[in-house]
Amino acid sequence: MHLGKLGQALVAREIFDLIQDDLDQVEKKITAESVASVEAVTAIGQYLQSSGGKRLRPALLLLSAKLAAEAKSPAAPNGHPGDTAVQLGAVVELIHGATLLHDDVIDTAETRRGRPSTNVKWGNHTCVLAGDWLYMQAFQIALRERNFQILDLLIGLTQMMVEGELLQLERIGRIDVSEPDCMELVDRKTACLFSVCARLGALASHGDAPVQERLGEYAWNLGMAFQLVDDVLDFTAREKTLGKPVGGDLREGKVTLPLVYALECASPAERGLVETILRQRNYDEVPFARILALLEKYRGIERVRERAQAFTDKARAIISEFPESAYQRALLAVTELVTERDH
Ligand code: IPE
Ligand code: IPE
Ligand code: MG
Ligand code: MG
Repeated sequence: MHLGKLGQALVAREIFDLIQDDLDQVEKKITAESVASVEAVTAIGQYLQSSGGKRLRPALLLLSAKLAAEAKSPAAPNGHPGDTAVQLGAVVELIHGATLLHDDVIDTAETRRGRPSTNVKWGNHTCVLAGDWLYMQAFQIALRERNFQILDLLIGLTQMMVEGELLQLERIGRIDVSEPDCMELVDRKTACLFSVCARLGALASHGDAPVQERLGEYAWNLGMAFQLVDDVLDFTAREKTLGKPVGGDLREGKVTLPLVYALECASPAERGLVETILRQRNYDEVPFARILALLEKYRGIERVRERAQAFTDKARAIISEFPESAYQRALLAVTELVTERDH
């Protein structure tokens, strides 16, 4: 299915409408929990919260909670997913925020969500510490659930993501990146968090182990597609829509999957162009358009889009196993949003 821009907006609206009350509660929770005794941390938390992220992770958690509740008791599917899901929705968005704070320091980013990034406004030192504080605040909220399984998932996840950032750092500026290297980073950066969101949702509704497992697998596939599309958008989007600079990955020294595919077929001279950018970290000598032409010539973007599509197909197949309902349809529709998104 190919949704136009309007179609996509409508689908997003329908999905978010289903869980709007709970998302509002999540938002209130984040506001209430982002207050530190040091003003800078509170200000950074507020800045992040008000900058308009998509809230995809809490949405995924809440929808999973609803679906798992239905799977348990089909007679009473509606209503609120319960306080635990709302608390955990805030937890995952706070963790996401903390990773973005640290990531923008590491990447020396200038823009995030269409505004100056936090590192630009508050400096690296404050942002690293504010990120630490937000991580701990997220764990504090999670701890109140008194459930070791929740902590287990969140700690494992955070270590996976931090290791991912470290691995990426080791590969910065290198052209000899393989497809499995890229896939590992896509998993660690994004898919593992998506997966934990769905598992936590199922847990919040006391879903059985197989339901937790299947929802986790669905969201993992969705996350893989989401990050692959992110890697594509880094080449194809417009900065105004994306909210961060286009061509940023390569400028930061990151060779992502679209380029890995193009490099597999590139001539030594063409490879040299990429090497120049990796060395100079700008597009002064080799213009960005030259890289786009390379991707076009060797179908780099197309091939990654196909890979992303395969992941969403898998995600859809898993959700199709669940009985039909509004939440099941919403989780199916999320897959369209991910592949068709423009930011
Ligand atoms: C940004 O994630 C980081 C990546 C995994 C690419 P999102 O694109 O979900 O960020 P926001 O929260 O909507 O800004
Ligand atoms: C996203 O990584 C941050 C994490 C999920 C840890 P990137 O550096 O690739 O993403 P953007 O482009 O800054 O959003
Ligand atoms: Mg970054
Ligand atoms: Mg990064």
